[in-house]
Amino acid sequence: MIESSAPSPGFTKDLLRWYGRHHRNLPWRETSDPYAIWVSEIMLQQTTVQTVIPYYERWLALFPDLGSLAQSPLKKVLKAWQGLGYYARARNMRQAAQVLIKRYDGRFPSRYEELRKLPGFGPYTTAAVLSLVFGLPYPVLDANVRRVVMRLARMSGGPNTKKDKLLMERLLGWIPRKKPGLFNQAMMELGALVCRPHGPLCLLCPVSSFCRAYEAGEQEVIPSPKKRSVTNIEAVVGIICKDGKYLIQKRPSSGLLADLWEFPGGKRDPGETLKEALRRELREELGVEVAAARPLITVRHAYTRFRVKLHAYECRLKSDPKTDPKRRRWVSLRAIRRYPFPSGSARIVDKLGTPINWGHNTNFRISRISPGNYVKNLNSETRIVSLF
Ligand code: ADE
Repeated sequence: MIESSAPSPGFTKDLLRWYGRHHRNLPWRETSDPYAIWVSEIMLQQTTVQTVIPYYERWLALFPDLGSLAQSPLKKVLKAWQGLGYYARARNMRQAAQVLIKRYDGRFPSRYEELRKLPGFGPYTTAAVLSLVFGLPYPVLDANVRRVVMRLARMSGGPNTKKDKLLMERLLGWIPRKKPGLFNQAMMELGALVCRPHGPLCLLCPVSSFCRAYEAGEQEVIPSPKKRSVTNIEAVVGIICKDGKYLIQKRPSSGLLADLWEFPGGKRDPGETLKEALRRELREELGVEVAAARPLITVRHAYTRFRVKLHAYECRLKSDPKTDPKRRRWVSLRAIRRYPFPSGSARIVDKLGTPINWGHNTNFRISRISPGNYVKNLNSETRIVSLF
């Protein structure tokens, strides 16, 4: 559904009035230096305003103009960019600065075609420089603007290249000849502060009366969320029980699922059977050989970026596993529930000890490890009665 929406002159007026009153005072908004504006626009791609501010200030101290950037060694330029990611942006900036010094006398050309040819000048950067520096009516289309226009025009679905064409057509119809740079800044600011991805603040929006999504109550579902590509992972873990206690270990303190607890195990390598993977993982992690293993349960869990199929095997080992007091523990069924596990492993934990009420004369519990095998808890002493 795309509704025709040709905001009247009132739209731009209301938007710019709001921007004049509510915009954030950001360092790059207080300069008219084309070089500094360009630097900010490159840094702001894929990176938040708060992250960019200290980088921007440090960069301008190190490379105050095109000439200094063009002459600086690449190593120094990359070091100044360290932590911002997408390092090609820094490399391209230095190259563009060299071209600008050599061919354009250190000035930015004001023609779209010329600017667009410079290293790192895609449609966004080109439009940003032309509008913010030269006051030319080129609309910018970043993630914030995309969302604002999709909502204003009640464009359903997710963002894509075909939609970008339609969005650009809309923006070309809306951008004023006078102050196009302010219009672009205002659209980005509206997206950042009011027309937010989640929980848009429509009651505070200066242009809600022009918004078709708001009219239809669809502002929360436009644009529809991006489909992320998810990776499928298959992993195998060993449930090792000794004297009624289970062996668990802590994940590293950085990276995925940091500091959570899990059963020993890991990913299955291509071509391996599950049992081969289990034997290899336990050998690598615990320094032990598996004497016997049999399947206990398979659980599936979807995380944001990946989907896991986790196979749990109850195992008997030929020797005691390596200890590591900080990372590895034997814990009782009671205690294990107090440890934080990733959701998939937590479901295995749930399966370990469902108490069964036998009614009369029972002071033991059955832990449903697998059909036919159980843990007998007699007078608070837990024993594995029959595992194999
Ligand atoms: N994102 C991209 N350009 C921006 C700007 N000039 N101000 C704030 N956020 C931005």
